[in-house]
Amino acid sequence: MHRHGRCRHARARCAVKEACKKTCEELAQSALDKARGQRASSGSSFIIDAQSLSYRFTLSHASNLASDARQAIFKLLTANMQPLYGASSAGWDPIGKEQELFDDASRFILVHRADSSFDDLAAFLMFRFDVEECSVNDELARFASIPPTQSPDGGQARQARQRPPDGCADEGDKCFRDNSDDESNKGIDMDADEDLEIEVAYLYEVQVSARHQRIGLGAKLVQALEDMAGEAGMAKVVLTVFLANKDAVSFYKRLKYKIDQISPSIVLGPKEAKQQGFDYHIMSKSLRMSLFVAKS
Ligand SMILES: CC(C)(COP(=O)(O)OP(=O)(O)OC[C@H]1O[C@@H](n2cnc3c(N)ncnc32)[C@H](O)[C@@H]1OP(=O)(O)O)[C@@H](O)C(=O)NCCC(=O)NCCS
Repeated sequence: MHRHGRCRHARARCAVKEACKKTCEELAQSALDKARGQRASSGSSFIIDAQSLSYRFTLSHASNLASDARQAIFKLLTANMQPLYGASSAGWDPIGKEQELFDDASRFILVHRADSSFDDLAAFLMFRFDVEECSVNDELARFASIPPTQSPDGGQARQARQRPPDGCADEGDKCFRDNSDDESNKGIDMDADEDLEIEVAYLYEVQVSARHQRIGLGAKLVQALEDMAGEAGMAKVVLTVFLANKDAVSFYKRLKYKIDQISPSIVLGPKEAKQQGFDYHIMSKSLRMSLFVAKS
């Protein structure tokens, strides 16, 4: 039954490992190559216009952020999100949030005004390349990998999100083989209890400061992430959003994000999910399907 599992497992993890090797300059170039009105700036920066104002988008690994940049990021996150976290089942945990934000695997797109000496942080987006659980009902399931061991509670892929990508070193060249068109991946013998994994860009945060909202910066940040993630070979962008954050849910829906098949409200049904205290959606957007659409 798992004849192809090892290879497919290796493929997802190796895709993530390859994406993680990309420099911020290479990723910024991917966004520029899409030519959506961006102008080159320096190596890892590009300029985008929003309502007649120019903004500089700069990519950076968390580990390369200066302490004043970290402070500005955390200040913006706190201003936007503390009340929502405070009212959620997770609660507001500034220490845990800071650790998550500035983990070595995190990358940031920082947004500043480009045509002004006023250097406040206007917005930022934080993401990581990682593997994520994929439902057998997902349109991308046939591209997905089977993790090395199955856990009875199906929570393994979530743990996978917490750990750095691995598993490529001893897999040899076969792990880079693109077997997405392989007949063996079509109609694979997945049963409903089987966990699958897929390579994703996980969007942890998109935060626009109050006075820069509703001029298109959030949409342009997410578009830049999709461009970079698609070029880096990721299958989808995945994110978590509080049900109570109705503005953000509207924003993501407008950008064509859908509630993912692994979201509690889909897995359990909305009523049961609410009863069990799940107060968030997992939303996602397939990058592979949008490539198919773009080509046709
Ligand atoms: C949600 C957020 C990221 C949106 O960024 P933004 O730059 O203000 O949004 P954009 O201008 O790019 O909006 C694009 C579209 O999304 C939708 N949208 C954006 N904000 C919205 C809001 N408050 N209410 C309803 N729809 C909204 C609209 O359709 C909008 O298009 P339009 O302005 O032409 O109508 C921003 O408001 C924000 O940082 N909010 C606080 C933090 C937050 O909730 N982050 C998301 C955490 S998961």
